[in-house]
Amino acid sequence: MKYKLLNAQRKFLEIPHKYSLDVAVYQGGYGSGKTFAGALLGILLCIKFPGIRGLVGAQTYTLVRDTTLQTYFEHLEMMKFVENVDYKWSSSEQKLTFKNGSEILFRHFEEPNKLKSLNLGFVEIEEMSDIPYDTFKMLLARMRQSISPKWKNFTYRIFGHTNPEIQRGWIYNTFFVNPPPNYRIICAPTTQNIYLPKGFCDELKKLYDKKYYETFVLGKSGNYNENLVVKDFTDENVKEIQYRNDFDLHISCDFNVDPMAWVIAHKTDDKVFYFDELVLENTTTSKTCDEFFARYPNHKGKIIINGDASGDNRSCMSEYTNYVIIKKKLASFGYDADIKIKAFNPPIKNRVAAFNAKVRNANGDIGLYVSPKCEKLLYNIYNLRYMEGSSRIDIPTYTQIKQSKELKFLSHPFDAASYLVDFYWPIVL
Ligand SMILES: Nc1ncnc2c1ncn2[C@@H]1O[C@H](COP(=O)(O)OP(=O)(O)OP(=O)(O)O)[C@@H](O)[C@H]1O
Ligand SMILES: [Mg+2]
Repeated sequence: MKYKLLNAQRKFLEIPHKYSLDVAVYQGGYGSGKTFAGALLGILLCIKFPGIRGLVGAQTYTLVRDTTLQTYFEHLEMMKFVENVDYKWSSSEQKLTFKNGSEILFRHFEEPNKLKSLNLGFVEIEEMSDIPYDTFKMLLARMRQSISPKWKNFTYRIFGHTNPEIQRGWIYNTFFVNPPPNYRIICAPTTQNIYLPKGFCDELKKLYDKKYYETFVLGKSGNYNENLVVKDFTDENVKEIQYRNDFDLHISCDFNVDPMAWVIAHKTDDKVFYFDELVLENTTTSKTCDEFFARYPNHKGKIIINGDASGDNRSCMSEYTNYVIIKKKLASFGYDADIKIKAFNPPIKNRVAAFNAKVRNANGDIGLYVSPKCEKLLYNIYNLRYMEGSSRIDIPTYTQIKQSKELKFLSHPFDAASYLVDFYWPIVL
């Protein structure tokens, strides 16, 4: 069996550098040959490096079973490999074993902790944009199968394939913005797959609007800056910020059950430095205070609480307001916190204007810095948008959140951070 690979597939399979680890993503449109290329690479690695152990996974097991695994079997058949002679499939272990001792485990990533004990030579990730960055980082740490002396020119490999992210997320940040030299992204438009039925892409063109076509057929990353609420935020606004236990510390809060969103900052007369965030799922004000104390058990400077003015309303759930709960709870840790909030919240557009003016004023001066540690706040800054053609912020609906869990973290961390800016440097429009 002779394969004729698409250009993008060849680039994906070949390694253009000499680092000991290669991380490659095939970003393409629907039907651009992603799964085909991934499964072929997995099998080739098993043949070339006898005894190698690979992991093939996707966020859900259905995707692994119905798509990826099927494609592995199709390749094995095309290569005239015979089951129980050249390879064995164990459905109880979900494991493919080759006669040279190489093996591939097929797994889902819903409980990534279960994969923690593995030592691997390669990992394939199906539909990478569905998996959280933390899972990717955990997999990186699994690339440590001991290298057999028989393996010539061996390189650990993590490879995945994906449709472009709809929002700016970790794939864009990792592979397009300052990628390390051993990280590569290969873009594959569906239009270049000559193996698709004639007219396939023309049909898609009729079906989709321009933006959708560019993303899901041409495989292009979106214009992630369109309609953003936070303007002009650049890498200059991102910096490592040193926490100082003798400085005043601000906690700025947005109260929700899921997720609770508080950001933690130092501040000068004209600048704010967000150095940590407490974005917790299914929690309470009191438990969030516990987490704060666990991280900052030895604070010597003042503690000032800023945040949502409506958080001071008595809720039927509790006889105390959220701020009273925080004050009491922190007092029990020996901290005397000052509450500094407005009597009522200004219109959102004023708060947004105040935040943007700190990000960068008309002179180009920066007054707002965010530590890379504040992942959710950064996610908000890069992704919170206005609805197209409107001045209303596009807050994810319940149904959207159900489809894509990450969306529940959109809006609240931005609210938390901007209450602080609006309190100290308000802008009245
Ligand atoms: N080099 C190739 N030689 C022969 N057929 C190929 C080749 N590359 C891809 N194909 C065929 O093209 C079709 C689409 O490929 P594949 O399923 O890998 O695309 P995909 O990008 O994973 O699609 P999806 O977006 O649906 O997940 C399949 O029928 C596959 O067998
Ligand atoms: Mg596919």
